[in-house]
Amino acid sequence: MSVEPHKPVILITGASSGIGAATARLFAANGYRVALAARRLKRLQELQAELEAAGGEALAIQADVSDAASIQAMVQRTLEAYGHIDLLFNNAGFGRTKWLEELDPQDDIAAQVNTNLTGAILAARAVLPSMMHRRGGHIINMSSVSGWLATPTYSVYAATKFGLRGFSDALRREVGVYNIRVSVIYPGAVTTDFSTHSGASRKTALSTPKALVLTPEQVAKAVLSLARRPRRALIIPAITGLSVLLASLFPWLADWVQERIFTRPERGF
Ligand SMILES: NC(=O)c1ccc[n+]([C@@H]2O[C@H](COP(=O)([O-])OP(=O)(O)OC[C@H]3O[C@@H](n4cnc5c(N)ncnc54)[C@H](OP(=O)(O)O)[C@@H]3O)[C@@H](O)[C@H]2O)c1
Repeated sequence: MSVEPHKPVILITGASSGIGAATARLFAANGYRVALAARRLKRLQELQAELEAAGGEALAIQADVSDAASIQAMVQRTLEAYGHIDLLFNNAGFGRTKWLEELDPQDDIAAQVNTNLTGAILAARAVLPSMMHRRGGHIINMSSVSGWLATPTYSVYAATKFGLRGFSDALRREVGVYNIRVSVIYPGAVTTDFSTHSGASRKTALSTPKALVLTPEQVAKAVLSLARRPRRALIIPAITGLSVLLASLFPWLADWVQERIFTRPERGF
């Protein structure tokens, strides 16, 4: 494959569906060469064919971000194909939204930590040498509003998304001198397959108001805006920042409200 140094390269984890796939489409349409990583290779190959048919450049890479060797191979493959990586979008992740005592130690707890947090850390570590060598790059980590505001049944998920915030702050302060940017994106609810993997069953009909629910395409646009103008953090929709602020200023109020409107009715108290 010929290497065109002028075309920027993005490596997207979790590109086989939802936000990752929407981001791949948007970046390909904006002239990026797109490395598509996830476990479901067939979906990635279909997306690669779709992007190529539209005149873009893409590469499907089967990778499991809960596996360190697989992450290393994913980065190596991208570098071999495209020569460098301008942007790593650490997007792969899932949530199991059950009470802590119901979560399986391996399949739910370790798997969420290994995928959402350790996977993103190891992928960032794997791209750093080439970014440091080139004196430039950008890492965008996918957190969630759950990275600021932890809600019942999201205990482990929130731990991973809070973890990404701390990781990103420290890393930004380590690599800024190499002209490497580190950003975090914090979306609220997004219409993807996320909830089909959550295992949740609810008594209450509580959900995010429709007006605040995002499409994957809206999140993709926010990622593109971060790529064009790197910032530390982006909470979307912006109004959600208000609840983050309120919960940070008055954590006792967040405890009280969530126990009253969610935990008590759900647990039958
Ligand atoms: N949907 C929401 O409401 C929402 C809100 C805020 C943040 N987020 C975050 O957005 C990210 C994307 O989720 P989504 O909403 O787009 O859900 P999704 O449609 O279920 O996509 C999740 C993606 O992650 C990939 N993935 C999961 N485990 C993986 C592993 N071990 N190795 C490699 N890839 C893996 C999946 O691909 P394979 O199964 O093919 O591996 C899939 O492409 C997640 O980090 C999620 O926490 C979602």
